[in-house]
Parts: sequence; C-alpha cells; structure tokens
Amino acid sequence: MEKSLGRKKIAVFISGRGSNLKSLLKYSKTKKSLFKIVLVISNKSNAKGLEYASKSKIKNFFIKYSNKKNFEKQSLKLLKKYKVDLICLAGFMKIVSKNFIKRFSKPIINIHPSLLPKYKGLDTHYRAIKNGDKFSGATVHIVNEKMDSGKIILQEKIKILKSDTEKSLEKKVLKIEHRIYSKAIIKLLTTY
Ligand code: GRF
Repeated sequence: MEKSLGRKKIAVFISGRGSNLKSLLKYSKTKKSLFKIVLVISNKSNAKGLEYASKSKIKNFFIKYSNKKNFEKQSLKLLKKYKVDLICLAGFMKIVSKNFIKRFSKPIINIHPSLLPKYKGLDTHYRAIKNGDKFSGATVHIVNEKMDSGKIILQEKIKILKSDTEKSLEKKVLKIEHRIYSKAIIKLLTTY
C-alpha cells in the first residue's frame, strides 16, 4: 500500500454490537495512530455500533440490505465521497462480492474469532471446544470473495482450558480481537 504522511482513512463495516469498532476508534484517537475512522456503514438499522459512531461524531450510515448489488453500490458511493483508503469489516455479517472488491480497488480486511483457516463462518468457539482443540484465537486477514479466506495479516492464539465454555472462550478471544485489529492495520499500512 502506498505510504504517505497523512493518516489513512478507514471505513468500518458492522452489523451489530460494534466492540471491535470501539477498540479501533479508541486506538485511532491516540497520537501515534496511522489511521482515522471516517465512515461507519451498517446493514442493520439497530446495530449498537451505529449509536457509538454517532456519539463519537463519526459519519455513519445504515444501508438497507435489500440485495447485495444495491448495498454495495450505495456503499461504494460513500467510500468515494469520504475518500476511504481501507475497509475494515468488524462483525459485518455479509460476504462482499468480487465486483465490490475490484471496484473499491484498495484493501479490505476482516477480523474473525478463530485460528483461520480453521472454523470459517459461525459458531467458532463451540466448534473449537467440541473438537477438543488445545488452542483458539483470532485472525485478521485480507478479504477476498470467499468467506473468511484470504491472506492472513495477523493471528494470535490462546490456550483453551478444560474449564472453558463457549461464553468464556468468546470473551477471551474478543479481548484478543480488540488488541490485534489495530496492530494488523498498522502492519498492513507499514509493510505492504
Ligand atoms: C467478533 O467476534 C468478530 O470477530 C466477528 O463478529 C464479532 C463481532 O463483534 N466477526 P463486535 O460487533 O465487533 O462486538
């Protein structure tokens, strides 16, 4: 990615709670931050993350997901308007199309609560525990048109304890997510 002195402009796509958005915003407000969040887009009108974006005075939009084509068309308009350099998917529950990736033409990344390539999709913690895995974790990766695939930028793992439940593991992995998402963005902005 092209390096420049100005902070890179990021858009965050969400569908719900927005705790990763919150952690990115917190980081972006630090002096050393190489990026700023200029836009939040949600496909759900009641996403908690939208409220948080409003409170933080970040431009935010709900775009109805009547169909992929329409959602992506409207998103692309906003991405252009706000001169976005990088899209971060954070709990965004839709798969972006090949056409969208091509037309945006800059990086799109995602955070996922498993040690990819293991456990793409939903119920990652349940599956890790059920399979008796010794480790779980979180992954930040480049987005391509296949779900939870694409080059891995950063991954951090954590031991699964015998006492762990789906809930306790989710909590621990979420903490990792909040720590590594900003780190992964910085890695992307400085090394690619
Ligand atoms: C996170 O676990 C993320 O990895 C997954 O969905 C969850 C979203 O959480 N894709 P939040 O909305 O960021 O709180």
